[in-house]
Amino acid sequence: MCGIIGIVGQVPVAPLLVDALKRLEYRGYDSAGIATIEGGELARRRAEGKLVNLEHRLDEEPLAGTIGIGHTRWATHGVPNETNAHPHFSNGVAIVHNGIIENFAELRQELVEDGYAFTSQTDTEVVAHLVSRELKRGARPVDAAHRALKRLEGAFALAIMFQGDDDLIIGARNGPPLAIGHGKGEMYLGSDAIALAPFTNSVTYLEDGDWAVVRRNHVEIFDMKGEPVERPRQQSVGSSFLVDKGNYHHFMEKEIHEQPEVISHTLAHYLDFTEGRARALDLPFDFAKLDRLAMSACGTAYLAGSIGKYWFERYARLPVDIDIASEFRYREMPLSGKSAALFISQSGETADTLASLRYCRDQNVPIGAVVNVRGSTIAREADVTFPILAGPEVGVASTKAFTCQLSALASLAVMAGVARGHIASEAESILIRQLAEAPRFANQVLRLSDQIEKVARELSRVRHVLYLGRDTSYPLAMEGALKLKEISYIHAEGYAAGELKHGPIALIDETMPVIVIAPHDRIFDKTMSNMQEVAARGGRIILITDEAGAARTSLTTMDTIVLPDVPEFIAPIVYALPIQLLAYFTAVAMGTDVDQPRNLAKSVTVE
Ligand code: M6R
Repeated sequence: MCGIIGIVGQVPVAPLLVDALKRLEYRGYDSAGIATIEGGELARRRAEGKLVNLEHRLDEEPLAGTIGIGHTRWATHGVPNETNAHPHFSNGVAIVHNGIIENFAELRQELVEDGYAFTSQTDTEVVAHLVSRELKRGARPVDAAHRALKRLEGAFALAIMFQGDDDLIIGARNGPPLAIGHGKGEMYLGSDAIALAPFTNSVTYLEDGDWAVVRRNHVEIFDMKGEPVERPRQQSVGSSFLVDKGNYHHFMEKEIHEQPEVISHTLAHYLDFTEGRARALDLPFDFAKLDRLAMSACGTAYLAGSIGKYWFERYARLPVDIDIASEFRYREMPLSGKSAALFISQSGETADTLASLRYCRDQNVPIGAVVNVRGSTIAREADVTFPILAGPEVGVASTKAFTCQLSALASLAVMAGVARGHIASEAESILIRQLAEAPRFANQVLRLSDQIEKVARELSRVRHVLYLGRDTSYPLAMEGALKLKEISYIHAEGYAAGELKHGPIALIDETMPVIVIAPHDRIFDKTMSNMQEVAARGGRIILITDEAGAARTSLTTMDTIVLPDVPEFIAPIVYALPIQLLAYFTAVAMGTDVDQPRNLAKSVTVE
């Protein structure tokens, strides 16, 4: 989950490394550092905390040199402080690492017994010492790196630089992504194409087990046996501009407000609004012949998939298994020859989702992936990619990616329903007309921001919140809770409203706000009964509903947020916005770091 960068350049690289790290900060922001070869010697600057601290450090003590490596960290082994920040050094070897070296404890023990002293608590430092030990034993840098790599178990993307050779960086990948950027008389290594985009859009993605010898004018790629391998060079689609906040206070706020537009772009990709038809896609499976769809994802993407399950089963009569990817990957689910698998990931790099995809690939199941980042590993490894057109999402809390994932899944459910003969032509055009209205309704919800901000000020004073919903509002309740806890650090839980009396009702008292997500639909009255149960125990209810729902409730609520009346099919897309705004304004009221909340990273490339 860290971001790494390497440049073998022609001009001073320190500012370029920092610039690239800004594009990678979404991968972690506990500490950052860069190293160059300055006057023939390895030199580094590191700083705890956000990248801005490293920039201050470099203002005070600049670094020269035309070759360098850099790192932005999400701590796994060792607290986030300067000592544990990368690059790590060992006798003329500098190294940056993303991933986890699983056998680091044995290696560390072996190196300690061999006289190596450790200065950090990281797993990474063993790699620096392993390479340096091979140099000491007489190996040349390339061979030293290869020998060390063969000792490693676990997941890693590495960049290694050697004092005494300012035309060499070794890159290696096993798990987390690593791309080589080809320049003119300059070469680059980076965790993703976006980091490399200002330098070049000509990239080669390393595959698992690959390692590369990167020099200014030449790149060679090898497998772990040391055999040369060919990997295609591709044009990257990474955007070369650093996305900014515009007039918004936070990326999250901006991304919430972008939703009407990006939902509409995503829907238009799948649906022909003029004809009222789902577009024909070239698929590696036939929806009509499937007996099961296995879906898997993490976090917010998992919750989008959980809503998708209701849609596929209701409108296409296609049974869906939805799993949290970290469970799916180990639970050895049997998959029939009539199954297809669908993975959902904003980043396209989430380690558990990728491992689940590979499990399905080994079972010979056709694989689709709903992804935002084109060119990501999941996008490349799937048989078919279903893009969401959300654009770069910078805020760690997923917002516009969620509603775009929902938009893509709803479109695919319509497609599946038509293919399986459960949605007739007239019904298809009605559902598509309903989806076409989603951006307009989303816009109307954004106009309720002032009211939602007032409710959020109340929420910011509590320590625990319960979210309740039924049907598609149940995963949405979990998404509301996830959003609130990740950016405001308030403890929140999402429950199926009908589950309340099976345990969580014990939590209810006059200090506990209960946010009920209840559009006026077929089961509104059932949810009302659950609200009565909360009210009877003194719970304070915040009801998110529509006019019909608000008119029907006889309870005195702490607050009622009244949304436009929307068709049941698209309600989850529209109701996502108030829960995002509630979390956002609560976090702002509490003064947390909304875009980069503590302990989190945007892309989770370790399991
Ligand atoms: O990039 P992905 O969609 O695969 O990421 C999955 C989760 O890590 C992500 O949705 C996470 O839960 C968000 N921070 C939630 O806002």
